[in-house]
Amino acid sequence: MSAEKLVVIGQGYVGLPLAVRAVEAGMEVVGLDVNAERVKRLASGESFVEDIPADRLGRALGSGRYHPSTEYADAEGFDICVITVPTPLRDGVPDLSHVEQAGVGIGPYVRPGCAVVLESTTYPGTTEELLRPLLESASGLTAPGDFHLGYSPERIDPGNPVWRLENTPKVVSGVDAASRDRVDAFYRRLVERTVPVDSTRVAELTKLIENTFRQVNIALINELTMLSHHLDIDVWAAIEAAETKPFGFMPFRPGPGVGGHCLPIDPCYLSWQVKRRLGRQFRFIELANDVNHEMPEHVAQRIMNGLNRAGRAVSGARLLLLGLAYKKNTGDVRDSPAVDVARRLQALGARVRAVEPYVEPHHLPGGVTVVGLTEREVREADAVVVVTDHDCLDYDLVARHARYVFDARNRCHGPTVERL
Ligand SMILES: NC(=O)c1ccc[n+]([C@@H]2O[C@H](COP(=O)([O-])OP(=O)(O)OC[C@H]3O[C@@H](n4cnc5c(N)ncnc54)[C@H](O)[C@@H]3O)[C@@H](O)[C@H]2O)c1
Repeated sequence: MSAEKLVVIGQGYVGLPLAVRAVEAGMEVVGLDVNAERVKRLASGESFVEDIPADRLGRALGSGRYHPSTEYADAEGFDICVITVPTPLRDGVPDLSHVEQAGVGIGPYVRPGCAVVLESTTYPGTTEELLRPLLESASGLTAPGDFHLGYSPERIDPGNPVWRLENTPKVVSGVDAASRDRVDAFYRRLVERTVPVDSTRVAELTKLIENTFRQVNIALINELTMLSHHLDIDVWAAIEAAETKPFGFMPFRPGPGVGGHCLPIDPCYLSWQVKRRLGRQFRFIELANDVNHEMPEHVAQRIMNGLNRAGRAVSGARLLLLGLAYKKNTGDVRDSPAVDVARRLQALGARVRAVEPYVEPHHLPGGVTVVGLTEREVREADAVVVVTDHDCLDYDLVARHARYVFDARNRCHGPTVERL
């Protein structure tokens, strides 16, 4: 019997790990992406996703069952197609153009009995109201009935060595019970546990609950942190004490803001739909966005005040920023608050140098000099700023040799360290 043929549309942070995992589970996989450069690099064994090291990608390619491609025609005869394309905001409004293009691209290859699954994060209703009609009109078939259609939110946490695709429970759904069972059977080959739910809308909302919960709780702790600073109370110590409570509390840590293509964006999909459908504001989301947006400015101000206390001006100061990615141990700078902090400090006249081992140089902001973390760099900086706390950096070295450290992540300790 020939291997099941899977097409994964989008070979990014979500699509590439899924494609590689499916190859490892014995499937024949076409990894489709419109980015020709990305496809070329993948075909030559070069991975840009930390969770898929080059040797793992190399083994997938070596199996002869992983085919990166830019051609939708390579989807011909597929059994399952998973869509993992971006769902950004454009002027604050959901931009589903990539999902639409993926639907139009794959539609002609939909055939009786096949399954299409959307994984991109989006507002409830997208699978049935937007994707289904595109697939039906391009194929002349209907779902449910002729083909299966479902939604399964991705929970991948880039850089997390504990919770990976295979051991994180996967929520699955379909437009009817048969679709749900087909989607469930597919993911059971890839992950340890699936969680079937009754409708695609429930599955779509599940993802938005998860990310809205994080965004709101991070904002709560960020606002408390700014207030605690003025009240002269150590918020980090209070969180540490609070988390000894064995029930009813979950710790969230303050930081320089939220970034990436999930937390600042996904809750807006929900608030946008609430506004559109109900004419009402989702107030928690609006407030959380406001507070989290404020953080880079708050960090820049605190650094400016810290320099001022030492009799130095931010203008002309030499600053060493640790980490520019939006998230530790990753090279992802999309909407990174660390980049925002760097730009604000540059605008105030600071000379910004940065230690950033993960981000590809062409993704770094202009005017920032990238350096290694050495004693000399630390000593020569007027301030060292811990913005994104990659685990590979030596924070003891920083605390030992820096004149002044502003630590937005609670990684450095010592008399010269000021924490967010
Ligand atoms: N990155 C995460 O941690 C994460 C976690 C959970 C969910 N998500 C969601 O998953 C989706 C994908 O996110 P990502 O981080 O993988 O994005 P990404 O930008 O890393 O990758 C998406 C890829 O899709 C490609 N693409 C765009 N339009 C296409 C089309 N019409 N046909 C083929 N390829 C196309 C792009 O070139 C890109 O390579 C988003 O909805 C995101 O919100 C992301």
